[in-house]
Amino acid sequence: MISMTRRRALALATALAAPALLPGTARAQANYPNRPVTIIVPFAAGGPTDVVSRLVAEVMARDLGQPVVVENVGGAGGTLGAQRVAQARPDGHTLLIHHIGMGTTPSLYRRLAYDPVNGFEAAGLITEVPMTIIAKKDFPANNLAELVQVMRQRKLEVNLANAGVGAASHICGLLLQAAVQTQVTTVPYRGTGPAMTDLIGGTVDLLCDQTTNTTQQITSGAVKAFAVTTSARNSALPNLPTASEAGLPGFEVSVWHGLYAPKGTDAAIVNRLSRALQVALRDERLIARFAELGTTPVSQEQATPEAHRRYWQADIAKWRPIIQAAGQYAD
Ligand code: MLT
Repeated sequence: MISMTRRRALALATALAAPALLPGTARAQANYPNRPVTIIVPFAAGGPTDVVSRLVAEVMARDLGQPVVVENVGGAGGTLGAQRVAQARPDGHTLLIHHIGMGTTPSLYRRLAYDPVNGFEAAGLITEVPMTIIAKKDFPANNLAELVQVMRQRKLEVNLANAGVGAASHICGLLLQAAVQTQVTTVPYRGTGPAMTDLIGGTVDLLCDQTTNTTQQITSGAVKAFAVTTSARNSALPNLPTASEAGLPGFEVSVWHGLYAPKGTDAAIVNRLSRALQVALRDERLIARFAELGTTPVSQEQATPEAHRRYWQADIAKWRPIIQAAGQYAD
């Protein structure tokens, strides 16, 4: 038989009623997350966005107390995965980790089935990754000056892999062709993970990709590297010259990444995600792994919704006139 005093019965009734009395946002946060969280990566497994996302997801899962599962939805330069998240229920259980493509897509794609500017809540920046210009092992150039010569001589005979229109590798490839003043043949993949496999296998010639995907392949000698695309050398690849040092002055491009939830996600949940992201970005193992891969986490202040939103909007504004002047659209 179950019995209780009047006082205990009153306390129990008050406790049961409490969640209903909480304001909406506090209630949303109190119940969140109540099942596994999925992070959609809009590129293939094994590539740089995937690598960063899996490292972040592992620590976020510990902090959130629920599994955080990474799902790869590659294709169409990252827009298929982004669309999946923009159209997901805004309850914080389906998220997106995407990169600089969030800045270029609004100008590159004039027709999309989702709103690339207003379809998401920014939860925080993650990292800004340098890129490297690399080639298959037996490519007939041994430094950047020789690469420029071969690209100018062989033009469309040279294949340059990328992860689709709007991908970081696509943007870097466009900038490289503009700097070299030539045009080569581009080969799109669902991500630079599979592009790297083909580069190592020798079926494509060139790739411009993030150090998070290239450092290991460069140091093991699986591919040939010509330059890193930042103003300073990278500590994970200290012998690799910058593009400026190697003969393309001012050739600089790096790739920022951020965490997003669908538009309309409760602010309390977005803030909870931001706090979990901050925990991940100060995790010693994550910082050490990032360093091995040639990158660093952003500061704790940058891993906030406000800083991320500001950075993202500024990047959209930066790319719009460049893409419009080039007149190169994805559709
Ligand atoms: C890109 O070029 O945008 C990336 O390398 C995509 C990826 O993560 O595969």
